[in-house]
Amino acid sequence: MSNKTLAILKPDCIRKNLIGKVISHIQEAGFKILAMKMVKLTPDAAKGFYEVHKDRPFFNDLITYMTSGPCVPIVLEKDNAVEEFRKLIGATDPAKAEEGTIRKLYADNIQENIIHGSDSNENAIKEIAYFFSRKELIEINGWNN
Ligand code: CMP
Repeated sequence: MSNKTLAILKPDCIRKNLIGKVISHIQEAGFKILAMKMVKLTPDAAKGFYEVHKDRPFFNDLITYMTSGPCVPIVLEKDNAVEEFRKLIGATDPAKAEEGTIRKLYADNIQENIIHGSDSNENAIKEIAYFFSRKELIEINGWNN
């Protein structure tokens, strides 16, 4: 499992018509797309996903933002996927992100930062299961093997 991670193209990415550009960056960096869909999160679904941040001052704004339009969760595969993907997207705050990273190129601010990437292998497993059923994943790439 250490070769998989979950990306989410966030509502600002979709609003800015950047789905294609961002996916190009991801594919050019050598990630394989194993599953992808467009979803509109309910407040409860967004709260569940970001449970770990529930006591942070930005939590309510984060839920408003993440439910403001559709998102595109994507299951990605590459060796050392979690770490490699976090390098590709850059720091949470685009002002602090390295040149050439997805957030540096396209994000507006620390909240509206275009894209999510799992922060550990353990969370990648949980986050993938949050958006994709076993059946969807098995059908694509022998997920259950
Ligand atoms: P991500 O790291 O994908 O998941 C948590 C999200 O919370 C983060 O992206 C931002 O969208 C948001 N976030 C994190 N830190 C802050 C902050 N200090 N202020 C506002 N939003 C934040």
